[in-house]
Amino acid sequence: MDYATLLKIHLAAVAVSLALFVLRGIWRMLDSPMLKRKWVKIVPHLNDTLLLAAAIGMLVAAGLNPLEHGWLMAKIAGLVVYIALGSIAIKHGKTPRARILAFVGALTVFGYIAKVALSKQVWPF
Ligand code: HEM
Repeated sequence: MDYATLLKIHLAAVAVSLALFVLRGIWRMLDSPMLKRKWVKIVPHLNDTLLLAAAIGMLVAAGLNPLEHGWLMAKIAGLVVYIALGSIAIKHGKTPRARILAFVGALTVFGYIAKVALSKQVWPF
């Protein structure tokens, strides 16, 4: 698969990831039974796997080594923090306050990762 196609898949998965995360965050705040639906438990993880697979495909296609590009390391680190905060926001946060703080934190980190991608700078502000 060529780089341009992988980038399109990556960007589509980025949009779906954000949409599903916001939706699940809202359902969590409302204690909605939607969160118990099977597809809601599976699809976000499949999509995030696709997001990462397309990213790895681009690295291979373009011969990019994250160890040589700070902005790629920043994206990988950002993704780890986004996943950790996301799991607190949706699952492991014990109080509504902890879950909301983690939700806002995860969205902030998501914005940072997107800014890093567009600017190719570790500190894009
Ligand atoms: C939530 C996580 C992520 C978000 C929100 C995100 C967002 C984006 C965005 C918005 C672009 C488009 C940049 C442009 O059009 O110039 C992009 C491109 C890219 N992303 Fe990600 N990304 C994420 C995770 C990752 C990860 C973990 C990697 C692997 C290190 C990665 C590698 C890349 C690469 C190689 C490009 C292509 C850059 C280019 O050719 O301009 N992304 N990403």
